[in-house]
Amino acid sequence: MLVGLVSAKGSPGVTTSALALASQWPRAALVVEADPFGGDVRAGLGRGEWPSDAGIMEAVVDMRSMDLDVAVAWRLHRPTEYSPSVLAGLGCVGQASTLPWSRIGSALARLPGADVVADCGRFAVADGVTPLLRVCDVVVVVTGSSLRAVRAAARIAPRLQEERDVRPGDPRVPVLVVGADAPYPASEVAVACRLPLLGELPDDPRAAAVWSDGDQPRRGFGRSPLQREARRLAEALAASGDDRRGVA
Ligand SMILES: Nc1ncnc2c1ncn2[C@@H]1O[C@H](COP(=O)(O)OP(=O)(O)OP(=O)(O)O)[C@@H](O)[C@H]1O
Ligand SMILES: [Mg+2]
Repeated sequence: MLVGLVSAKGSPGVTTSALALASQWPRAALVVEADPFGGDVRAGLGRGEWPSDAGIMEAVVDMRSMDLDVAVAWRLHRPTEYSPSVLAGLGCVGQASTLPWSRIGSALARLPGADVVADCGRFAVADGVTPLLRVCDVVVVVTGSSLRAVRAAARIAPRLQEERDVRPGDPRVPVLVVGADAPYPASEVAVACRLPLLGELPDDPRAAAVWSDGDQPRRGFGRSPLQREARRLAEALAASGDDRRGVA
């Protein structure tokens, strides 16, 4: 299963949510950084100590001589025991448009033994990673709950639905609200965006900084509001993949 996460504007927490969700996934899952503006995990979660050859660019070069699933396994890095394994993103702006995202996405969608949560960064109609979004099982629009954030998310929703060839309301393009009720409740955000509501992740700066900045987790991190809610959402998302395959 391949789940893509995108934002419209600002930094609502795509990278943080991708890592939190994958860390709580009910089966094996990894994170692929496909942000066209460049990856963040090397400097964030990895605190600048990421192996230089553990990234998506290296995996794509490997693809010339091996299948992508082998290359991905080879190039993954798991920085800490509480973290999911991650294929780190690009180091240069502009590189994204040079990568064969359609081929990469098709391989990730049927990776044996693991689901993939892809951090696709900010959605821009003409950017290079759109072919990856087309082959995702689900593309989640991540947004905050301010009027500004909701307006921006509502603007990209129809374009995403068009790219995915789905109608408004299709569960394959849902919205995830980070920090609801500030001021709009998640249900109102979903209606305004004309997207089905996947759920919400709470405003939990301490737990979020573990994922976004590599902060040391404090006691009880596993039971933090962010991790608990990520667990619920990860289970729902993983089950929706099963449903589509007729498992459930
Ligand atoms: N659920 C949350 N609660 C509180 N703070 C959060 C939450 N999610 C993310 N943040 C914080 O918001 C900031 C931005 O997060 P993050 O880097 O994940 O956003 P992003 O959407 O990936 O941004 P960018 O578009 O720059 O890649 C970070 O400081 C992070 O700790
Ligand atoms: Mg990010």
